[in-house]
Amino acid sequence: MNILFMGPPGAGKGTQAERIVEQFNVPHISTGDAFRLAMKQGTPLGQKAKEFVDQGLLVPDEITNGIVRERLLLADCEKGFLLDGFPRTLQQAEALDAMLAEMGRGIDHVVNLHVDRGLLLARLTGRRICKSCGATYHVMFNPPKVEGICDKDGGELYQRSDDTEEKVGTRLDEYISKTAPLLEYYSGKGLLREVNGEQEIDQVTADIAGRLRGSNE
Ligand code: AP5
Ligand code: ZN
Repeated sequence: MNILFMGPPGAGKGTQAERIVEQFNVPHISTGDAFRLAMKQGTPLGQKAKEFVDQGLLVPDEITNGIVRERLLLADCEKGFLLDGFPRTLQQAEALDAMLAEMGRGIDHVVNLHVDRGLLLARLTGRRICKSCGATYHVMFNPPKVEGICDKDGGELYQRSDDTEEKVGTRLDEYISKTAPLLEYYSGKGLLREVNGEQEIDQVTADIAGRLRGSNE
């Protein structure tokens, strides 16, 4: 199954993707994670991406499209994939359509997690991430058992540099001007599955899984 996850920063895409890939047994491809890894390793891609990510701006399309193309060609994507945070512009959506057409494939579902803007700031400023496995927590909404430590592997939790109030404002503006118009693009193709992302984490997972399995239509 070929799935896209859309939604504003903080809607819960990463949290839900971790759970859905386990149920549907497809790889989780997050462009945000790919950029953060390259930044941590200090590769040329990472240095370029950092100029944009640190400001809360979108990385240019040609860079982003290139990493997705390379990733989709890896063997583990033959059984399907979950793309989290890509595409984010109309140009990226068209590039993805072209890549998939070349591979003789298509998109099955575009899940849009809807969360009101007012909630997003609290979600993002309270987010904590595991340094070793990337698992996501929230100091109030989804706390680890021991403060500052990952439940899964004991890794240290950190806060993302773009999760400050100022950067979140820029990221939301980028989302509204460049990414939100894609909802119409996918709705026009009959692929959009709207999910209420303001519910409890488990309920959101259940709703997404239901939509992907074709119930709750
Ligand atoms: P990316 O890493 O994709 O960030 P984002 O879209 O801003 O999304 P987030 O990861 O912030 O949020 P999320 O929806 O995954 O929420 P989460 O599950 O963590 O991108 C980062 C940057 O990379 C971009 O700004 C850009 O520069 C660049 N980039 C990436 N892709 C790009 C592209 N395609 N083109 C160009 N540039 C690109 O949840 C948030 C918090 O809320 C967590 O603490 C979580 O525990 C909590 N939470 C989640 N669900 C719930 C719930 N139901 N109830 C209560 N709390 C919840
Ligand atoms: Zn961990």
